Amino acid sequence: MAIRLHTELCDTLGVEYPVFAFNHCRDVTAAVSNGGGIGVLGATGYSPEGILRLGQWLKKNTDRPFGLDLLLPQRAPGTGDRKDLLARIPRENLEFMDKLRRELGLPPARPFPTDRIDIMGLGVGGTLVSQMEQVEAICEVKPAIFAGGLGMSPEAVEKCHSAGIKVVSLVGSLKHARRVAEWGVDIIVAQGTEAGGHTGKIGTMVLVPLVVDAVKPIPVVAAGGIGDGRGLVAALALGAMGVWTGTIWLTAHENPLEDFIKNRLVAAQAEDAVITRAHTGKTARSLNSKFIQYWNQPGAPDPLPAPYQSMYLPVPWDVSSENPDRTWEKLGLQDWIGTPAGQVMALIKERKPARQILYDMVSQAIDILES
Ligand SMILES: Cc1cc2nc3c(=O)[nH]c(=O)nc-3n(C[C@H](O)[C@H](O)[C@H](O)COP(=O)(O)O)c2cc1C
Repeated sequence: MAIRLHTELCDTLGVEYPVFAFNHCRDVTAAVSNGGGIGVLGATGYSPEGILRLGQWLKKNTDRPFGLDLLLPQRAPGTGDRKDLLARIPRENLEFMDKLRRELGLPPARPFPTDRIDIMGLGVGGTLVSQMEQVEAICEVKPAIFAGGLGMSPEAVEKCHSAGIKVVSLVGSLKHARRVAEWGVDIIVAQGTEAGGHTGKIGTMVLVPLVVDAVKPIPVVAAGGIGDGRGLVAALALGAMGVWTGTIWLTAHENPLEDFIKNRLVAAQAEDAVITRAHTGKTARSLNSKFIQYWNQPGAPDPLPAPYQSMYLPVPWDVSSENPDRTWEKLGLQDWIGTPAGQVMALIKERKPARQILYDMVSQAIDILES
């Protein structure tokens, strides 16, 4: 059977190209959706109020389908505010990071800004209660899709379905794919270990066909290591209905990520995408940094489980948010900063606008399919 770029999933979602763009920048999200793909904004750091504001902005800036994404680890604590969660962090871990602060000449931790009512401030994954509050805000926004990484819950699936939202679940193993299929998700993203961000152990080439066969007729989208038209065609050949990409949007012109990170990504080798638990407590792939190496030294405490690990670190992981902290350059500490990023960083050769990244991928895929 001939491979078609415009898959059934494109018709289901009302998009031109089966290219999902996960990112943390509303401008990239809108640009990809306006260009005919589907932009998916990572909203896990946002409070319900912040999610509502993002939704309003996106609706003003695109009339095409877009997605919102949350991290929903089901082993998160049930309840607790920021103060409760911080009180559970062991002294040994706090002292380890205080030592780093002193070594780098960083000021003591600042209190959480009380005026940022748009930010969650609970650490990666938050609590089971905060996760559902975020899901409820997403149901008010009503994006075309809601995506969940690091986990999913039947309750979230049900709430989104009642609001008319399609549910996408990111999985890194066959076991998880089967579980979310039982819960009735609409699309499964099979994400291979090459991927940026939280990731499992199985490569994309093996995971995608395994999941495609196991969850039929649920459409499967391939993620992890896809950076150009060759990757897109390969994913379709594996039986995927589209591709879910993350790393390639980090260097998009619209992304407010600092220049020093973008330049490092363009110059990076695949080996520079390392696995670490230093930032969130969960295994994740990141652009290597001195901070990651600091946690690898003998005698370092064990990283804490989510959400705690991400709550007391003096060095941010994801500076690609709407509010990049420009101080690192001034302090000359750029080498201490990384970003979630996958092996496909080695395929990024130049910085381009988001729409160009999308069109270059799509036109290369068309050339391959027509040759
Ligand atoms: C900077 C960055 C942050 C990410 N954060 C999330 C997240 O919050 N939620 C999520 O579901 N996936 C997240 N991911 C994973 C992506 O959704 C996607 O599966 C992955 O980037 C695909 O692999 P690739 O990086 O090789 O394109 C992130 C990826 C990157 C690069």
